[in-house]
This record gives sequence, C-alpha cells and structure tokens, in this order.
Amino acid sequence: MMATVNRSQSSDTNTISHWDKKYANLIYEITKSRDELTHERDQLKMYSSNLAEEMEVLQSQYDTVAASRDKLQEELNRLNLNRTVLSPDKPCRQGWIQFNNKCYYLSAAKESKTWEESRKDCQEREADLVIITTKAELEFVKRSSSVTWIGLSRGEQQDEWKWVDGTNLEGEGFWEDGEPNNNGGIEDCVEVARFTAAWNDAPCNNTFSWVCEH
Ligand code: BGC
Ligand code: CA
Repeated sequence: MMATVNRSQSSDTNTISHWDKKYANLIYEITKSRDELTHERDQLKMYSSNLAEEMEVLQSQYDTVAASRDKLQEELNRLNLNRTVLSPDKPCRQGWIQFNNKCYYLSAAKESKTWEESRKDCQEREADLVIITTKAELEFVKRSSSVTWIGLSRGEQQDEWKWVDGTNLEGEGFWEDGEPNNNGGIEDCVEVARFTAAWNDAPCNNTFSWVCEH
C-alpha cells in the first residue's frame, strides 16, 4: 500500500485529510490508467493474433500464386521452344540439325549425363533419345569426341532390347563385335562408341553425351 501520514503526529487534521484525498485520487488515477493499459494490452494481443492469422492466410495465398506462376513460366518456356516457325525447307527448330527428315539435338560437348538424365533432357525438349534405324543414321549419331547414349535399353527379359517408344529392337541391330556382353551384369543401356559406329551395352549410370530426336 501507499505510504500514509501518521495522523497522531500531525497537528493539522485538515492537511491530513487533504493528503489522504490526494493519495486516494492518485491511487484512483493510477488504478484507472493501469486498467486502461491492461485493456489496451489485451486488445493489442488480440490484434496481433489476428494479424498472425491473416499472415498465415496471405502466406498460403502467396504459395498458391507462386506455384501457378512457376507453372505458367514452364508453359511459356515450352511454348517459346516451339515458337520458331517451321517450314518445309527449314523443318527443325533452332539448335537442331536435320538429317533425312528428322531433327536431332546433340548435347553440348562438355556435358554428360546418365542414360535416364539424358532421356529426361530430351523429353524436356519435347523429344526423346534417338531411335536408330539405319546404318547411315548411326554414322550420323556417332560423335567423334565422345560416347553417346541412344534410346535403347534392356527390356524385362535379359536378351530383349527396347526402344524409348516402347517397341522391341527388331533384327540384328548394330552391335559392336562381342556385344552386348552385359559386362559385370550391370549393362542395361546402349551407347555408341567413340571410334566405331556400333553399339555397346553399358551401365546406365555412366555419364555420356546424348542425342535427341523428334
Ligand atoms: C565396357 C563394356 C564393353 C567392354 C568391351 C568395357 O570397358 O564397360 O561395356 O563391353 O569394354 O571390351
Ligand atoms: Ca558391353
């Protein structure tokens, strides 16, 4: 409690009463402003929790908008890829090479990927790993500087080979002498060697150059 004036020691009771009143007033004022502050604090607390809720809602709206923005950007990239006007005398997109009525994309010289990554890269270019049907096409695909993945990999059966379009390899193919040998039992994907225009089965996780076609 507040300090009080000892009445017995005072000669002027009026003065005492005057001080009592003053203290009582002061206490009243202080109590009042404490109550007001408490009220204000409670309101601020509520306000802040409302803001937190609002922020959560905004955050989730932002996430939704950002996701749709990313999707649109992807779509735009895809459309831009196809935007080049193709004509009979210029049937391939920029950066692609025409050979016998098909368009080919040769990966950059310094790049190398696993078979799956190479395939994914082709698919992102609206194409797929190359399917080789003629010796001439194989010669074209062979790259002097690097080993090249093609769109052929082992099927369910040990001696079954499948192209990326789901068809089985028909006929003899263009295997290197002694291939496919499934060296180490882990060679499920097919590459074209650097020096000879011929196929070799190799581990799919090896990283090589690749050629896409569409
Ligand atoms: C490769 C095999 C290939 C063999 C041919 C090895 O280095 O990993 O896939 O069959 O060479 O000699
Ligand atoms: Ca092999």
